[in-house]
Amino acid sequence: MLLSQILHLHDIDSIVLERKSRSYVLGRIRAGVLEQGTVDMLHRAGVGDRLSREGMVHQGIGIAFDNVLHNIDVHGLTNGKVVTVYGQTEITHDLYAARDAAGGVIIDSADDVALHGVDSDAPYATYTREGKTHRIDCTFIAGCDGFHGVSRKSIPQRVLTEYHLSYPFGWLGVLSETPPVSDEVIYASHPRGFALCSMRHSMLSRYYIQVPSDDLVDNWSDEAFWAEFKHRLPQSLAAKLVTGPSIEKSIAPLRAFVADNLNYGRLFLAGDAGHIVPPTGAKGLNLAVSDIHYLSAALIEYYGSAGEDGLKQYSAKALDRIWKTVRFSLFCTRLLHDFPDHSAFEKRIQQADLNYMLCSQAAMASFAESYVGLPY
Ligand code: PHB
Repeated sequence: MLLSQILHLHDIDSIVLERKSRSYVLGRIRAGVLEQGTVDMLHRAGVGDRLSREGMVHQGIGIAFDNVLHNIDVHGLTNGKVVTVYGQTEITHDLYAARDAAGGVIIDSADDVALHGVDSDAPYATYTREGKTHRIDCTFIAGCDGFHGVSRKSIPQRVLTEYHLSYPFGWLGVLSETPPVSDEVIYASHPRGFALCSMRHSMLSRYYIQVPSDDLVDNWSDEAFWAEFKHRLPQSLAAKLVTGPSIEKSIAPLRAFVADNLNYGRLFLAGDAGHIVPPTGAKGLNLAVSDIHYLSAALIEYYGSAGEDGLKQYSAKALDRIWKTVRFSLFCTRLLHDFPDHSAFEKRIQQADLNYMLCSQAAMASFAESYVGLPY
């Protein structure tokens, strides 16, 4: 949607194929912490007005550990950079509005999408909708169809290396219409497991706890969630927590995945089609946006007759930033979670890692640099 909107601003036509219905897409609860580069991209795409009004600018984040809440002054450590809390679902909403206003073509409920001839000069996509098969002839195909989409599967195995990593735990997330316990996002490390305090706005909280990967939402009543969540926060914070009924509750597995490379012929992968990061560090959406930064620039260059060099470099450029961001997401995950199979020695090293980061300006600055987002 973002790519389509940016291309439109440069008079390049596109068609968006979406497997789900619009109401499904707009009902999903997704991530919420935007890097400065993401915010800038959304402004450049002409969809930044509501984000400016409603987005919550955060200058720091909290790290809770050993019953103490520490603050990382992200703004001070990065020469004034910040992150903005604004739900991904709201961005999608704003993008639909912009594409609708411009007469953009978004085909929803597109089933059986298949890509053909992606290594030729005349690639095309087919799909079925309401029982009818359709064909779209394309110049390029942007595979922005997520981890389970067809795009990556259309690239032959011999030109694609897939790197996978999975964790023995996931995050149980709860959305509740309660005031956030803090006006900053707080990452909490506790011997019983990780917990995260986040928000969407002043009366909508988003909280998570680490759970075993085979756990089920049905095992968690609201009462059980709040009790466990409180347990993992410093007492001073837990005492302030306002609880209420959950309006959404789901478990997301934690894993990492990178496809190398992101290009085959006239097909370019972007976002979750090409990579997944664990959510610690809040990088998934931001990484999709930086892919679109590189891909849109290369396509605009191509249509401006500057040739295909930019497109040929897309994969390497995007992957350089992807791997650095995967590194950061894995670092945060390792730093803050309970690893059931870690030895006592490894657990002490993890505590030392946290103690080191919270007393070293250099370590905190390194963390803050990645948290606000590496430069494009
Ligand atoms: C969220 O608000 O959903 C959120 C915040 C920070 C993260 C992940 C998710 O690292």
